[in-house]
Amino acid sequence: MSSFPELQNDLIIRAALGKPVDRVPVWIMRQAGRYLPEFRQLRSQYDFFTICRTPELACQVTLQPIERFNLDAAIIFSDILVIPQALGMEVQMLSEKGPHFPRPLNVPEDVKRLNADVNVNESLQYVMQALTLTRQRLNGRVPLIGFSGAPWTLMSYMIEGGGSQTQSKAKRWLYAFPEPSTQLLSLIARTVSAYLIEQVVAGAQMLQIFESHGGYLTKELFIRFALPYLQEIHDAVQAGLKDRGCYDIPLVIFAKDCHHVIGEVSALGYDVVGLDWTMDAVKTRQLVADNVTLQGNLDPCALYSPPEDLKQMARDMVDRFGKQRYIANLGHGIYPDVDPERVKCFVDAIHEYSSSNADK
Ligand code: CP3
Repeated sequence: MSSFPELQNDLIIRAALGKPVDRVPVWIMRQAGRYLPEFRQLRSQYDFFTICRTPELACQVTLQPIERFNLDAAIIFSDILVIPQALGMEVQMLSEKGPHFPRPLNVPEDVKRLNADVNVNESLQYVMQALTLTRQRLNGRVPLIGFSGAPWTLMSYMIEGGGSQTQSKAKRWLYAFPEPSTQLLSLIARTVSAYLIEQVVAGAQMLQIFESHGGYLTKELFIRFALPYLQEIHDAVQAGLKDRGCYDIPLVIFAKDCHHVIGEVSALGYDVVGLDWTMDAVKTRQLVADNVTLQGNLDPCALYSPPEDLKQMARDMVDRFGKQRYIANLGHGIYPDVDPERVKCFVDAIHEYSSSNADK
């Protein structure tokens, strides 16, 4: 492993691992993105996946929000869809439509097209290089977060071929082809586990898994087709990191719209459970084990509020979650039309309020 500059702000790692903090750490999902004019400027010159595949550019974009705001973590600029790409699928990013797969998986036979023996360290070498470069350039300012999509969420994109209101094509597989579905999910889980371990070796200091489409599943489907693979990833990454001599790397699970299974999700062993904006902080705290840190969950649309209202919502959120074992964030990614000044207002409000209430 390369040697990296010493970490000066380890607040988010401490909060994630349940160590005492003197203020609440904060970061924002999709903090590197289109609401920043400097991102839009770069994006007008390069295709989305070209930025992902060019370590210098991915690093620059990752650092953009860190230069502007008092954030407590950076998240590497990439996308969850680099895994389907590594498995051999073509993915394009269309400007108005979002992700597009020209040849999605239609029938179980199509799974044979995938590259089952993918070596993520080779196929996704550009992510590793971006992580190493960014970790160097951060120079210890804040920790660097790596991430991946969860197996069910990635499977749903690979079958739907892009966004979907219903996920009905992907859910059809679960009901009509359960056995091939589990084979596909296992292949993705194995690939994701290896990918996450390599990200840490390359420089990631915390890992987040996005189960963004968990809320489309019934409790029964979630327990059969999502939960076991989240467990597998947790266990494989924990064991793999230990083997590679990497310690104290917090694992975060963000399962969106998953009230119906939040107890099960929070019992998987992840250090941090991310909550979307519909979840109640107090009730969730009572439901999950004491050794879990909660992350979230301001409505991303609250950033459209006048600054005074926004500050009050940030303070109320800290009051409800409490100051320990808590990481402030939005309940999902920031929207592209948010004013960056409001981001500053939110981040500063969390810091000011949580450090003035030192004993909470
Ligand atoms: O958080 C960050 O700042 C790091 C970068 C990041 C991106 N995507 C960059 C991105 C992360 C962590 C993601 C995760 C991601 N990607 C998820 C999980 C989080 C979630 O939103 O639930 C998902 C589902 C995707 C797939 C994806 N990528 C979609 C659906 C879209 C289109 C929707 C949109 O916001 O435009 C993307 C594109 C994307 N990924 C953009 C960015 C900055 C915008 C694309 C552009 O510049 O044209």
